[in-house]
Amino acid sequence: MKVLTFVLVLVGLAAALPSGPVNPDITGAQVFRVNPTSAAHLHYLYGLFMQDLYDFWTEPRAVGKNVDIMAQRWMVPVLKATLSKVGIEHTVIIRDLAEMTERSKIANDRALEVAKRTNPNPKHNMDWTAYHRLDDIYGYMDYLATTYSDIAQVESYGKTFEGRDMKMLKLSKGGSGKPIVFIDGGIHAREWISTATVSYMMSQMVENSGSHAFLDKVDFYFLPTINPDGYEFSHTNNRYWRKTRSATGSPFGCKGVDPNRNWDFHWDEVGTSNEPCSDIYSGSKAFSEVEMRNVRDQLNKYADKIKVYLTFHAFSQLWMYPWGYTSALPADWKDLDNLAFDAVEALTSVYGTLYEIGSSTNTIYAAAGGSDDWGKGVAGIKYTYTVELRDTGNYGFLLPPSQITPTGKETLEGVKVVGEFVAKTYG
Ligand code: ARG
Ligand code: ZN
Repeated sequence: MKVLTFVLVLVGLAAALPSGPVNPDITGAQVFRVNPTSAAHLHYLYGLFMQDLYDFWTEPRAVGKNVDIMAQRWMVPVLKATLSKVGIEHTVIIRDLAEMTERSKIANDRALEVAKRTNPNPKHNMDWTAYHRLDDIYGYMDYLATTYSDIAQVESYGKTFEGRDMKMLKLSKGGSGKPIVFIDGGIHAREWISTATVSYMMSQMVENSGSHAFLDKVDFYFLPTINPDGYEFSHTNNRYWRKTRSATGSPFGCKGVDPNRNWDFHWDEVGTSNEPCSDIYSGSKAFSEVEMRNVRDQLNKYADKIKVYLTFHAFSQLWMYPWGYTSALPADWKDLDNLAFDAVEALTSVYGTLYEIGSSTNTIYAAAGGSDDWGKGVAGIKYTYTVELRDTGNYGFLLPPSQITPTGKETLEGVKVVGEFVAKTYG
């Protein structure tokens, strides 16, 4: 009996360990930080990035800018050898990714538990002290639409590959033909702070609509997560899942498409992969992903009224505008740069968080098929931005729940500047 108990305890422990089913691929994985000190280094890292052997948490951007690379257990010695052969120095910033991931999961679960216990409003489960599951986010959107029915409306604008609803909240104080600011988050599943920040801003604008004067002249549409299947999968199976969850026909069973390589504007031209196992797989064709077709249809439906389209990612602290498919700039780039500057100035004034501004190709690297490029190039929306939120790599995707509200607050200040600009210019 004692032996059986002992065995059961062992089995229980094993189930609780990071090698359990929640994060199957990351046992023994490590994250390396390298600093390219020359153009040759940068070029080499870019080549490595395009080979898809590693998960680049940050992309090679410029000489002197850190690049964080995740290597699975069996690739750790390979990466070490590769880097030392070409003389690129590295430090290991995460020695055991599985353990780190498990610790962050425990912290978030605890935060969710506290949130549930101390919830002041029994009508929904949402707050911004923890990263919540899709049900809580959708439940909160429905709550807002019921409670503030005069200004807020929730719509299901389609279904995902796995059959989940895709929901958006329209905030309008009435009057027709008003300009719209269209905001989405969570296109990349693992970038949880993006989804949390969009829902935070939605919450502040709906529940305190009276303190945002621009709402008299501007409508806001919020889509907190436009990749719900991926988002849920990143909670239940693989914390580092980026793509959708569609079937690809891959002989290796690889699933999903990079939704931000899937839009039909210079699709697949650069910075993409045709390999279904890749994290930057562009898909079998443009708009192969139903989720992106659904968002596209909404952007098209309101294209003449949408003045600004903001799509939130994480991480790196960048406020970027088109183009992403070429290093050339749009003719009106100065206008986009100016508004980005004003937004970032307001954001930074809250806690001193610094952002870089520029076209996405010139700030990161060229990558075609992004929603920002499509919004400007096809839908004709003048101001489209991709914003990479906190941080710059200290926590990366595992940004602690305690940073959700501060990130929300500062980002809201930036977005308020956008709202005021639209009210003044088009209102
Ligand atoms: N990190 C983002 C991505 O890889 C940046 C997207 C910038 N926009 C673009 N069209 N490339 O999707
Ligand atoms: Zn992203």
